[in-house]
Amino acid sequence: MKLFSGRAHPALARRVCEYLGLPLGRVIAGNFPDGEISCKIDEDVRGRDVFLIQPTCPPVNENLMELLIMIDSFKRASAERITAVVPYFGYARQDRKDEGRVPITAKLIANLIDRAGADRVIAMDLHAAQVQGFFDIPVDHLYAAPVLDEHIATLGLDPESLVVVSPDEGSIKRALTHLHRLGGHLAIIDKRRTSAEHTRQQHIIGAEVEGKTVLIFDDMISTGGSICGAAQVMHERGAKTIYVAATHGILCASAFERLGQAPIDGLILTDTIPLAAKNDAPQVTVLSVAPLLGEAIKRIHRNESVSRLFR
Ligand code: R5P
Repeated sequence: MKLFSGRAHPALARRVCEYLGLPLGRVIAGNFPDGEISCKIDEDVRGRDVFLIQPTCPPVNENLMELLIMIDSFKRASAERITAVVPYFGYARQDRKDEGRVPITAKLIANLIDRAGADRVIAMDLHAAQVQGFFDIPVDHLYAAPVLDEHIATLGLDPESLVVVSPDEGSIKRALTHLHRLGGHLAIIDKRRTSAEHTRQQHIIGAEVEGKTVLIFDDMISTGGSICGAAQVMHERGAKTIYVAATHGILCASAFERLGQAPIDGLILTDTIPLAAKNDAPQVTVLSVAPLLGEAIKRIHRNESVSRLFR
C-alpha cells in the first residue's frame, strides 16, 4: 500500500500517514508557465495499492484537475489499484436538475474521476448520500459524526436541556443520528434559499429552544449564510447557548466575518479542508478525521468491513 497527496491538503495526508505508520509517497506537482498542471510520481508504484488524498475544496477546479491528472499518472505507472480519497467532494450540491437547462455537475465529476482511472473512491459526508450512485466504481462513504460526537460528549451537556437542530429538511437524518448518540430533543428549521449567499429561516418545527443549549449540525459551511441564519433564529427564540458543528469548513467569501458576528458560542469543524487561520470567527475547534480515514484505508487494503467502523 502507498499513500500520496495532491497539493490540496498535504497536512491531512501526513496525519493519515502518521496514523498508519507509513511514509507519504513522493510526487512532484507544479504548474507550467501557462497554468497547466504538471505531475510526476517520484517513486515506483507498479503493482501497488495506491491511495491518493485530495479533497476538491477551493480552488475547486484546480484541485479537481490535479486529482484527475494524478490518477492518470498512477494508471500509466501500472498501479494495481487506485483509490481516490476525496474527504470533501466539491460540486456535490449540483446533484439534480432543480430547474430547466442546468447541468448535474456532481454526476459529471463522478464520470471524470471514473474515466481518469480510479478504481475506488473514499468520500466523507457527501452532501447527499445518493451521489454515491453517480459512480460506477465502489464508493466508501464515511461519516464524521463519531468524531464530532466524541468531542461534544466531553462538553458535559445535559441531554434534558439539549436541543439538536437540523438547519434544513435535508439534514434531518444527520440530526437524528447525533440525537441518537447524544440524547436531547429535536428541532428542524424551515430554510428557504433566496440566493447563493442568502437564506431565509422561517418556521421551527419540534422542540422549544428557549433557555436550552442548541447544537446545530450541518454537512458544510460555505458562505455561512445557512448556519448564521439558523443561529440567529435560535437566538431570537431564546436559546441559551448555541453550538454549531459541521464536517466541511469551506468558509468562502465573507464566511469568517459572518460567523464572527453571529450569536454562536462554539464552532466545531473537522480538517477535511485546510482552514485559514482567522481571528474574527467565534471559538473554533478543529477535529481531525485522519484516524478515521486511516482506519478506513487500512480496512479497504485488507478487504475488511468499513461499515463496521460506524456501528
Ligand atoms: C445545504 O443544503 C447544505 O447542507 C449547507 O447548509 C449549505 O450548502 C451551506 O452553504 P452556505 O454556508 O453558503 O449557506
